[in-house]
Amino acid sequence: MTEDVERILVDEKELDEITTRLANQITQDYKNSTKPLILIVILKGSLNFASDLMRKIPLPLEIEFMKVSSYGAGTKNSGEIKIHLDLIREELEKYDLLIIEDIVDSGRTLARLTQLLKNRNANSVKTCTLLDKPSRREVEFTPDYCGKEIENEFVIGYGLDYDEKYRNLPYVGILKREIYS
Ligand code: IMP
Ligand code: MG
Repeated sequence: MTEDVERILVDEKELDEITTRLANQITQDYKNSTKPLILIVILKGSLNFASDLMRKIPLPLEIEFMKVSSYGAGTKNSGEIKIHLDLIREELEKYDLLIIEDIVDSGRTLARLTQLLKNRNANSVKTCTLLDKPSRREVEFTPDYCGKEIENEFVIGYGLDYDEKYRNLPYVGILKREIYS
């Protein structure tokens, strides 16, 4: 598996620093809020990130899972997202929602998901991503919390996959081009 990695982009030490920094920011921002916080963990890629992050947020919080995918540009559903696993919660106006995502690429997934949850009248909806590739943006979207901005490289590990593999690497690495081209 490691022989498919071109180089390590974010090692375990930096991942630890990133989750500490983001957790501190989130704790500061939500500590005085009057509504309960729910982390919306987007499966499957943000599993490790959410797990590390939540253990560093010393606030009462709840977690829920969603599984979504965006239709690629060029299809007739371009810009829409498909919901594979939805939130089983009612009365979202009672909660602050923080969506936890692994990486923002075109921006379609989080732009649409944020809009969808706002339309369901959540008290607030914010987004937290481990990684961001701003140069790839196709729709306007800026995450509220971002671990690290990266160049246009295909990355794997720490939850991120290529063809469902490499999620169990303990770091984020750049996948060798020969694997996917
Ligand atoms: P967006 O809707 O284009 O922003 O899509 C974001 C989703 O694309 C992420 O949740 C990932 O599943 C996937 N993705 C984008 N870039 C990468 C990458 O470099 N490695 C692994 N998955 C990626
Ligand atoms: Mg994903």
